[in-house]
Formats: sequence, structure tokens, C-alpha cells
Amino acid sequence: MCEDLLKVILSRCSIRLFKQDSIPDQLILKILECGVRAPNAGGSEPWYFIVVKDESLRREIHKLLLEAHRLYATSVLKEPLPPEKVSKWVQRIVGGMYLAPVYIAVYADFRRSTHNVQYSEVEKVYIIQSVSAAIENIILAAHALGLGSVWLGVPLLMKDRFDELLKPPEGCELQAIIALGYPSEQPRVRPRRSIDEVVKII
Ligand SMILES: Cc1cc2nc3c(=O)[nH]c(=O)nc-3n(C[C@H](O)[C@H](O)[C@H](O)COP(=O)(O)O)c2cc1C
Repeated sequence: MCEDLLKVILSRCSIRLFKQDSIPDQLILKILECGVRAPNAGGSEPWYFIVVKDESLRREIHKLLLEAHRLYATSVLKEPLPPEKVSKWVQRIVGGMYLAPVYIAVYADFRRSTHNVQYSEVEKVYIIQSVSAAIENIILAAHALGLGSVWLGVPLLMKDRFDELLKPPEGCELQAIIALGYPSEQPRVRPRRSIDEVVKII
């Protein structure tokens, strides 16, 4: 029985405000070790991680995160946020939201492809699902170890700009950035739609 795991899953929530204390490398490596324990299609392990600790690079990433979130709020959503909400969000980011002592950029490594070309579309799904499983493991491991994190998808809106900074290997495609650090906020666990609404048992 691993009831502690259930506690970890049920108590996790996204953290967006971080203390700027550094995280020991040992802890970061332990978390990544949990990431690569994720199930992965055909044993392909199609992931690659870039861990950013460098201060000036982190500040560059934070600037891009501001731009990407603004783009999301104003142009991506079918119903864009009203300007006053956008400027509030922007102010919070300028004030330090999403600024983390560590960012983990998570890539899908398409060099690990093994499928015939006519199955490349489904293989892409397998690869992205495998990488997503690793991201979830990382986020849960971080929480279990007393760290907070948030899975950031907005960088996908401007992958090239992030790649310019992070210089991933050829054949790797950005899937997410995980902001990681000791929490400086304690949000309540966010509610979910009821199980009845999303489950059919037959
Ligand atoms: C694919 C994906 C992309 C996400 N992108 C962002 C993001 O760009 N910015 C952000 O603040 N949160 C992002 N999140 C976090 C979600 O907003 C969050 O998980 C959701 O609101 C539920 O809250 P909880 O994680 O606290 O339970 C993302 C989560 C996922 C799974």
C-alpha cells in the first residue's frame, strides 16, 4: 500500500510564487529520476530535460513567460481576458510570479522515433504522452519533497524564442517548462468537476 502517494496526489496544487532560495542539485536529480521512471511508449524514453539555474538565463525566461502569458490572455483564448485583468496579471508577473530558482524545460526527443513513417502521427501522440507522464511524475515528486511547481504550457506559443535561449539538441521539441522552487504561497487545492460528470461505468 502506498497511501502516502495518494496524499501527495490529492494535496498537490500549482505553485506560481517561489522563494528564491536555491535547490540542492541532489534534490533536482532525485526529482528528474522520478520523471524518467514514467511509463513510456515501447520503452522509447523520448525525453530530454534542460535544467536552468543560471540567474541571467532565468530572468530571460521569466521575461518570455510574461510575453507568452500576455499573448495567451489577449490572442489565444476564444474569449480574451478584459484589459484590466490582463494588466493585473502582467503586474503580478512583473512582481515576481513565475520567477523560480529552477526551470526545467521538457523536450520531446524525436530522435528516439522507431515507427514506420505511415504511423508517425500516432507515434507523435505516444511520444508526447510519454513526456507528459514524465512531467506529472516530476511535479508529484517535487511536491512530495516539499517543493512547489507549475506546469507551463504557454512557452509553446513561442517555442522558437525559448529555443534561442535554451539551445536544445536538434530533433527535440519543447513540450513544457516546469517552474520549480520552495513555495512562497499556499493556495487551496483547486476544485474539480464531479466524478459523476466525467465517468461512465459500464
Ligand atoms: C498542459 C498544461 C499547461 C499549463 N500551462 C500553464 C501556463 O502556461 N501557465 C500557468 O499559470 N499554469 C499552467 N498550467 C497549470 C494549470 O493552470 C493548472 O494545473 C490548473 O489550473 C489546475 O490547477 P492545479 O494544478 O492547482 O490543480 C498548465 C497545466 C497543464 C497540464
